[in-house]
Amino acid sequence: MPAMDDAWNQSFAVLRQLSAEDFRSGAEISRQLRVSRASVHNLVERARGLGVMIHAVPGRGYRLAEPCSWLDAEALRAGLLPGYRLTLEQVCDSTNSRLLALAARGEAHKSVLAAEWQTGGRGRRGRAWLAAPGAGLTFSLLWRFNRPLTALSGLSLAVGVALAEALEATGARGIGLKWPNDVLAGGAKLAGILIETQGDMLSNATAVIGVGLNVRAAPSLPEAATVALAELIDADIDRNRLLTRVLVSLDRVLEAFDRHGFAPLREAWQARHVWQGKPVRVMGGAGPVEGVALGVDAAGVLRIETIDGVQVIHAGEVSL
Ligand code: BTN
Repeated sequence: MPAMDDAWNQSFAVLRQLSAEDFRSGAEISRQLRVSRASVHNLVERARGLGVMIHAVPGRGYRLAEPCSWLDAEALRAGLLPGYRLTLEQVCDSTNSRLLALAARGEAHKSVLAAEWQTGGRGRRGRAWLAAPGAGLTFSLLWRFNRPLTALSGLSLAVGVALAEALEATGARGIGLKWPNDVLAGGAKLAGILIETQGDMLSNATAVIGVGLNVRAAPSLPEAATVALAELIDADIDRNRLLTRVLVSLDRVLEAFDRHGFAPLREAWQARHVWQGKPVRVMGGAGPVEGVALGVDAAGVLRIETIDGVQVIHAGEVSL
């Protein structure tokens, strides 16, 4: 949909002209971007429709309601480890879908696709992932493992550890992990992980690891269930720095996982496990299982102590 994408890209070009400090007049923006005043107005309205809060004052112009560090490809590339390749899209349907398609066509190991905004962001279990432009991080990383699909057990937990460690390094406290792969703070969801794999049982596996992280509270977030990093730390967040920090952490954890599997990361995961030792109900494939969460084994499988003994859960949803 090139025409549609063009309109969105123009909307982002307008957003990048705005700051939270000073008003920018419609005339100035229209001169800068070589579009009409009416177009500037329409593009601002489009951005507002996505949840970006913009003040408009007649005679003064437009101003962002809150400061925003827009993603910048150069700043991001400067913070990447050797061997990484990053593409930044203003608008993308889903970074996971896009990177999966590229992976099937031979895209390289350690390719990263980040987007300011996804038109069809996907969560686990067919849910949507919503994030207003500038309010979160939405990106996917392509990893070509030296192990087959059958040896990726615990991968989503490993990714959770990488995210938790990167977030803690920003000063955030009280980060917890919920099996199999949510990052929480104060019981609310801070980040989600969607891992999709390619490969057969015998050959080395390829995974697209998608991460959605709430950075600032935005109208698209359902308030009770979610939390944003800005609510946890007392400093301005540079999203470029945050993303490169997360990628560095992912690199360290995924290299370790590729060599040794989940076992060496088990302790780090369990130390942050929010349901550890608590009564839980797990909705698994074979129906609900109730008991006390004992933690995970060396393959990341959840162990629940039930009245009938210890049961192991390979996939499911946990609630207290
Ligand atoms: C979940 O908790 O349900 C997982 C959410 C994963 C969302 C991210 S955002 C970047 C990547 N692209 C997608 O379409 N989804 C993942």
